[in-house]
Amino acid sequence: KKVVLAYSGGLDTSIILKWLQTEYGCEVVTFTADLGQGEELEPAREKAILLGIKPENIHILDLREEFVRDFVFPMFRANALYEGQYLLGTSIARPLIAKYLAEIAVESGADAVAHGATGKGNDQVRFELGVAGLEPNLRVIAPWREWDLSSRTKLLEFAEQNQIPVAKNKRGEAPFSVDANLLHTSSEGTVLEDPAQEAPDYVAQRIVAVEDAPNTPEFIEVTFEKGDPIAINGEALSPAAILTKLNELGGKHGIGLLDFVENRFVGMKSRGVYETPGGTILLEAHRGIEQITLDSGAGHLKDSIMPRYAELIYNGFWFSPEREALQALIDKTQEHVSGTVKLKLYKGVARTVARWSEHTLYSEKHVTFEDDAGAYDQKDAAGFIRLNALRLRLISARNARVAKK
Ligand code: ARG
Ligand code: SIN
Repeated sequence: KKVVLAYSGGLDTSIILKWLQTEYGCEVVTFTADLGQGEELEPAREKAILLGIKPENIHILDLREEFVRDFVFPMFRANALYEGQYLLGTSIARPLIAKYLAEIAVESGADAVAHGATGKGNDQVRFELGVAGLEPNLRVIAPWREWDLSSRTKLLEFAEQNQIPVAKNKRGEAPFSVDANLLHTSSEGTVLEDPAQEAPDYVAQRIVAVEDAPNTPEFIEVTFEKGDPIAINGEALSPAAILTKLNELGGKHGIGLLDFVENRFVGMKSRGVYETPGGTILLEAHRGIEQITLDSGAGHLKDSIMPRYAELIYNGFWFSPEREALQALIDKTQEHVSGTVKLKLYKGVARTVARWSEHTLYSEKHVTFEDDAGAYDQKDAAGFIRLNALRLRLISARNARVAKK
């Protein structure tokens, strides 16, 4: 028996690795991805070797460009927000990991995949729906749902018994659950579990406190083509490089911090702190360019399906016909979403201050408060309003009639 494990090199997945070997007696293949979490990956290789994994069974891949190009950017074309605020930084990374788990399983002749998500969360659903949608015959092992290492203490005991090194949390606090990639860092658990308590400052890892952000604003220009950003300040950059650059800028100006209680797919509420510096700027910039390039009919339609689209991603249905159908609609609306947005970054806020495009629908000739040289006949508006008001007049007259009786 062979199993491909989504292996971060951290404590939890190292314990899982050992547990798969001892409890299941299977040969373990590890998969570690660079999604821009900002951690060295070579230590994961060394750790895997220490835990007895054969070199040929260790897969370490840099997936940053694919992550941003094929997952993050398509999602940002929709301006997706879950429950109005969450930019889906963890949710959008899971289907990519699922894709590689499935691919590596097929390649290495494994019959199962394994992950380190708990039985209480969304991530288990996302990994497993992703794998199911790509390789329906693969089995999934989710140790958190099976083992009796039900507490942190038992987990640490198991680590000690099996010579798995335990890194102490920087502040010596009980560790909380952190998930990071190029789009965001999320923190949940321990000190964050009581939503009535403010999150300690040290939870934020990549965004400076607004108080410490520069006292002078910074202006940047983001250029879009068909809904995707392609350049910053006139410099063409790859998808991952764009997001990296926006992360630097956002982090420095205190932009993109969210303290949020959300509804998990499995039914419970959870509280998390999200840091999405570059994504927060990107959302604002994308809305900025859509303002002048999107028609109102197409724009309002895509806005109306956005919550549904975001929920599909949150719930793990990236590889589903309905997500793909919505994506096709969203992508169609982006054909003319090209041009440049100028933003002001200052003290926690990214604000659009100017936008221009060869694809603009903005007609100064029509909208001007000055002489429009006959571009628009104001008299036309009278009939337009009269017919739109007809219904309202009839209703109001009916209500007056009925009230009299
Ligand atoms: N609640 C967020 C989501 O469901 C973040 C999950 C974070 N995952 C983690 N392993 N800490 O998308
Ligand atoms: C987990 O439960 O593994 C993390 C949180 C989540 O998946 O929602």
